[in-house]
Amino acid sequence: MKLPVKHILACAALAFGATMAAHAQQIVIKFSHVVAHDTPKGKASEFFAKKAEELTKGKVKVEVYANSALYKDKEEMEALQLGSVQMLAPSLAKFGPLGAKEFEVFDLPYIFDNRDELHKITTGPVGAKLFTKLESRGIKGLAYWDNGFKVFSANKPLHAVADYKGLKYRIQSSKVIEEEIRALGGIPQVIAFGETYQALQTGVVDGTENPPSNFYTQKMHEVQKYLSLTNHGYLGYAVVVNKKFWDGLPADVRGQLEDAMRQATAYANQIAQDENDRALEEVRKSGKTEIYTPTPEERAALKKALIPVHQKMASRIGKDIIQEVYKATGFDPAKL
Ligand code: LMR
Repeated sequence: MKLPVKHILACAALAFGATMAAHAQQIVIKFSHVVAHDTPKGKASEFFAKKAEELTKGKVKVEVYANSALYKDKEEMEALQLGSVQMLAPSLAKFGPLGAKEFEVFDLPYIFDNRDELHKITTGPVGAKLFTKLESRGIKGLAYWDNGFKVFSANKPLHAVADYKGLKYRIQSSKVIEEEIRALGGIPQVIAFGETYQALQTGVVDGTENPPSNFYTQKMHEVQKYLSLTNHGYLGYAVVVNKKFWDGLPADVRGQLEDAMRQATAYANQIAQDENDRALEEVRKSGKTEIYTPTPEERAALKKALIPVHQKMASRIGKDIIQEVYKATGFDPAKL
């Protein structure tokens, strides 16, 4: 049967229109982050993408860009505020430059002894209150995702506090971490996560700190000979969205995404410790970095050198928020 040209054109226009409508309906969330796929954050973001598509029945597509493929640390925050990406999960140490200095409470050395203490904050009123500080900056906090406790590394053994002296350390953009390094007699240098390997390789800095999962997946073991299991501070994430984008979503879709986020958060927090244990084991197996466990005396000396950072940074972070964290976790600096 031969169809009239007019009819063919009308059908084509209809099909085109339908495709356009399907595309117009699909909501795309660009989720940018700086770490490797094979990390707690990398895996949790992929998990969220899958769940979000499943629960919204394809109405939402989440595109995950890992390993600083789209933006580095500072740029990704700007991109989120501008709406060039819709979702990020920066580490809690990266909110200070936005003016949300209270987030640096998480960077205080030894403020959490373990994950249970941390979760009292991230799942409790303090965590919720911190999220309200982001709203005036066009950002909405959705969830806290775990990574883990940080270890120090360098090309010389780090046993006594004196070993840290005079070394240059790559740090995240947190004034509290800057003070932490100074308290050890080191020289802090803020460098984007994606540039850290090179900075270590070329000797721009001598050492760094990160949980083992970040250390291993960025291949830092190739350029750092010594790692000390200090667990002196915590690194974790706030999953954040562009507020205007989020508030503009249809209510049913937003609900489904909240559900996907709840599931992704449970998953992230469940795998974080294992991912770090596994990464440390891989570093050990590589034979390239010597892993050292500080003695109880060395640990006590490090703690003694670092605890004064709490007092020193109190006016920046806010005394109230620090007290609220102490109260929730039972931390008592007087008892140290
Ligand atoms: C870092 O910059 O060291 C970390 O914040 C990277 C990350 O996102 O875990």
